[in-house]
Amino acid sequence: MRADASPFILSTVKVIANVNVMQSRARAWKRAGIKIGFVPTMGFLHAGHLSLVREARKRVGKTGVVVVSIYVNPTQFAPTEDLAKYPRDLKHDLKLLRKLGVDLVFTPGDAEMYPGKMENRYSTYVVEETLSRSMEGAARPTHFRGVTTVVAKLFNLVLPDVAVFGQKDFQQAAVIQRMVSDLNFPIRIIIAPTLRERDGLAMSSRNKYLAVEQRAQAVILFHALSAAKAAVKNKSFSAAQLKKDLKEFLTAAPLARLDYVEFFDPATLAPVAQVKRGTQMALAVYFGKTRLIDNATL
Ligand code: PAF
Repeated sequence: MRADASPFILSTVKVIANVNVMQSRARAWKRAGIKIGFVPTMGFLHAGHLSLVREARKRVGKTGVVVVSIYVNPTQFAPTEDLAKYPRDLKHDLKLLRKLGVDLVFTPGDAEMYPGKMENRYSTYVVEETLSRSMEGAARPTHFRGVTTVVAKLFNLVLPDVAVFGQKDFQQAAVIQRMVSDLNFPIRIIIAPTLRERDGLAMSSRNKYLAVEQRAQAVILFHALSAAKAAVKNKSFSAAQLKKDLKEFLTAAPLARLDYVEFFDPATLAPVAQVKRGTQMALAVYFGKTRLIDNATL
């Protein structure tokens, strides 16, 4: 047990919901010279999230603390999206995090994070204006404004030295890295690899929405990435041609509906005309109302 831990929380993970209490706790750790590792999540945790938590622990070591936030952030969902039905299971999440030895779980509510929002008294947002425009930003125009705003707020409350994000949300990770650099947050951002199911489907809380047939066909995203990777191993292709080929490829999964596929430079996120080894590929595919994303460096 850490020297500053309460003897009454031995058998469970400590949970804080209040923003001021969270910030005071973080400031006390800072004063004591304790390193803070942070994993922001929207809960309904799966093995992918847990790998981010392990990475955070690795970065801060046994003498540091690991904080996980669980907050389904309403500002990153458009009114037509799945905010209301986003899967939640706090009890199970806490059990998993306790097993991993997480020091603190931060679970604020909307009234804590966006006080007065309903009465238009909340009015400050963080907007990244370059990397957030394409792909997810084009398909979901208000999404990244919500992500950067909530992550900036969480950073100010948790005061992490290191924060870990998943590679599965490649564009999100790039946008956050840019925000951290532009706004001088003294935080090291770590991007951890995507965890996959046995058949290759990237782990995601939204996989839960898939019906049996959809789930079986959802592996097409991974197969598309793998096929593109194999194709560009020794040869380059025009992006336009590969996009056409990909549409054709997706017909193997009749329940799939392509939202977008992009080929781009992994550092700038600028689209490329010619796709070769090292190009980043990202795609978003609908199965019914469920929208899945995945990406890979080819
Ligand atoms: O990736 C997510 O789960 C969310 O976008 C994040 C980073 C927790 C912000 O709400």
